[in-house]
Amino acid sequence: MTLAGKKIILGVTGSIAAYKAVFLLRRLIEEGADVTVVMTRYATNFVAPLTFQVLSKKPVYSGMFDPDQGKDIIHLYLNRGADVILVAPATANIIGKMANGIADDLLSTMLIAARCPVILAPAMDYEMYENPVVQKNISYLRNLKIDFVGPETGLLASGDTGPGRMSEPDDIITFLEDKLGIKGDLSGHTVLITAGPTREAIDPVRYISSRSSGKMGYAIAEAAKSRGAKVILITGPASLTIPQGIEAINVITAEEMLDAVMNRLSDSTVLIMTAAVSDFRPAEKAISKIKKGEAINLKLIKTPDILEEVCKKKGNQFVVGFAAETEDLITNAKEKLRIKHLDMIVANNVSLPGAGFEKDTNIVTLIDKEGKIKEYPEMPKSDVADMILDNVISKINKGYNG
Ligand code: PMT
Repeated sequence: MTLAGKKIILGVTGSIAAYKAVFLLRRLIEEGADVTVVMTRYATNFVAPLTFQVLSKKPVYSGMFDPDQGKDIIHLYLNRGADVILVAPATANIIGKMANGIADDLLSTMLIAARCPVILAPAMDYEMYENPVVQKNISYLRNLKIDFVGPETGLLASGDTGPGRMSEPDDIITFLEDKLGIKGDLSGHTVLITAGPTREAIDPVRYISSRSSGKMGYAIAEAAKSRGAKVILITGPASLTIPQGIEAINVITAEEMLDAVMNRLSDSTVLIMTAAVSDFRPAEKAISKIKKGEAINLKLIKTPDILEEVCKKKGNQFVVGFAAETEDLITNAKEKLRIKHLDMIVANNVSLPGAGFEKDTNIVTLIDKEGKIKEYPEMPKSDVADMILDNVISKINKGYNG
């Protein structure tokens, strides 16, 4: 929630990229911003104001003289207390109006009256973008300390390729956070997270696995991303959507997960192992489907212990393990912390109704290397994720260095 408490005016102008403003609004709301949407008349031809109204849970403003605006001078009233006006998409028209002091509708009037930073995210065809007048307007506004994010070069609505694509919502948000001086408390960190189960094949159609859905690990990945970290998510088979802006590496077996973790360990500053790695695998995988018989003897052998391997080779990374227990939670978790040489372990009693596999909530106890124990009540996995990261960053900030 990097934008919590920030008041943002989102100006939307008449470009096909107006549909991307819907995703941008959603991301701004996810980050906790208080967003008021102002649309130009042409923008309403591309996306209905109702879409923005539903997402922002606020009226969408468009006209200077709408009858329901009461006695306030609307362009001044909306601007009051705003931290930033972000125009995305910004057409050649709104850029031209702003550069030339034209105030002939609500958004252009607000831009002229603005006392807060203004950020423009241009979107137009490359022929318009390269027009010398548009370029002159952009340079003029840049000299007046108006910020521009993008445009990017790529495929345009016309089918041509060139400069003029509106920047992606996540890139705009990163730019905005920089502009507002917001740095997430994990910015500069790379967090490597494992999630989900592994699968160890018995034959081409059967495998040994666990009930892990990946929810706990994905929640940590999302929380770390929104707190400014670069996130690498190594995921076993899970039917969840990879959160935006996260690098995902898909693996199936414990061996593959070990390789992926080892390959990316040196890129990371924090490793969090939520994955429910299968502890055993069949000694041999049958080449064809095993026929239904009376009974079969399956010889199982140990899979590599990823955390143990990592902790033998790691540098300064802060390593967090999980312990999925059904009895003697603290004793077993402390033993895993010791044997695996972890910095912290998150113990969960997976037999409790609100905890563990597949649930949207978890009930965890944190144990650190010094033996300090913190118990937490049942919480949504997203809150557990933030709580774990709070503890990790607090240790790192106190000078922990592996
Ligand atoms: O995915 P969800 O449905 O949201 O469920 C979340 C969860 C229950 C999977 C999660 O909260 C959890 O407890 N994850 C750890 C599961 C587990 O395998 O625990 P363990 O006690 O067996 O292993 C201890 C630690 O060693 C874990 O960090 C595990 O990732 C790691 N391990 C285990 C085996 C192995 N071969 N290599 C390992 O590195």
